[in-house]
Amino acid sequence: MPAPRTVLLTGAAGGLGTLMRELLPGHGYRLRLLDLRPIEGEPDAIVADLADRDALREAVRGVDAIIHLAGISLEASFDKILAANIEGTYNLYEAAREEGVRRIVFASSNHAVGYTPRPQGDDPLIPVETPRRPDTFYGLSKCFGEDLAQLYWDRHGIETVSVRIGSCFPEPTSVRMLSVWMSPADGARLFHAALTAEDVGHTVVHGSSANTRLWWDLTSARALGYEPQDDSEPYAAKLVAEQGELDPGDPAHARLGGHFVTDPPIWPY
Ligand SMILES: NC(=O)c1ccc[n+]([C@@H]2O[C@H](COP(=O)([O-])OP(=O)(O)OC[C@H]3O[C@@H](n4cnc5c(N)ncnc54)[C@H](O)[C@@H]3O)[C@@H](O)[C@H]2O)c1
Repeated sequence: MPAPRTVLLTGAAGGLGTLMRELLPGHGYRLRLLDLRPIEGEPDAIVADLADRDALREAVRGVDAIIHLAGISLEASFDKILAANIEGTYNLYEAAREEGVRRIVFASSNHAVGYTPRPQGDDPLIPVETPRRPDTFYGLSKCFGEDLAQLYWDRHGIETVSVRIGSCFPEPTSVRMLSVWMSPADGARLFHAALTAEDVGHTVVHGSSANTRLWWDLTSARALGYEPQDDSEPYAAKLVAEQGELDPGDPAHARLGGHFVTDPPIWPY
């Protein structure tokens, strides 16, 4: 596959989208932007809902690849998750199929496996093949997205890299984030690798920097050519002094999903 150059970035107004708008052009991409919300200073950005199939078809027409970030990024009612994350992701894949787009990078999440106990002490890193254990409807929608990606690879030959992102913010802001942090620069490196690696079929990878306190294994990400350059450890002393080390006896600290596991559920209203 020739290296993609024009890439549709969905969710471009969001936190991660804003970071990637700044960083991905440095890897040689021309971005087409889409979001539900207008983006200040980006008059050409497409303002559309993932529910709008006609708008999606037009948005994907002629792009070489898609980075799909749009959706609800926290827990919400099932109906909201269903519309934005489940039906919305289906609508995007259908648009890609109809318009012949061959490569998608899907923003999955650690919350697809959030109930998995986090490694402690000398425990091995969590492999990417660990069984799904979503911690929320949000995490469940990421499981759906990964399976949808597999279906569209097996049935339609559309390749996807599903990136189970930890936390991508300019700096880690919690002790948990020391383990799951992906620096924005490493995020851009990983998306670049996911867009350019050959023959990915459907590949699931963990999305993190090379953190000293990493919880999961980056082998499948490195196999794409991803070489993380950052480590959260320089932030550790300050955060641990403020917040203390994670208490393994605290249910909100015992599993990969952190407080998503213990927050009151948003049951189906
Ligand atoms: N930021 C992280 O650390 C992190 C971690 C794990 C997974 N993710 C995933 O990465 C993606 C981006 O995360 P983020 O932190 O930037 O989230 P965000 O909430 O800041 O941004 C999401 C964007 O999607 C847009 N959006 C929501 N519903 C839409 C719809 N129906 N149609 C069109 N656009 C819609 C929103 O307007 C928003 O700008 C999400 O899919 C999230 O689940 C992010």
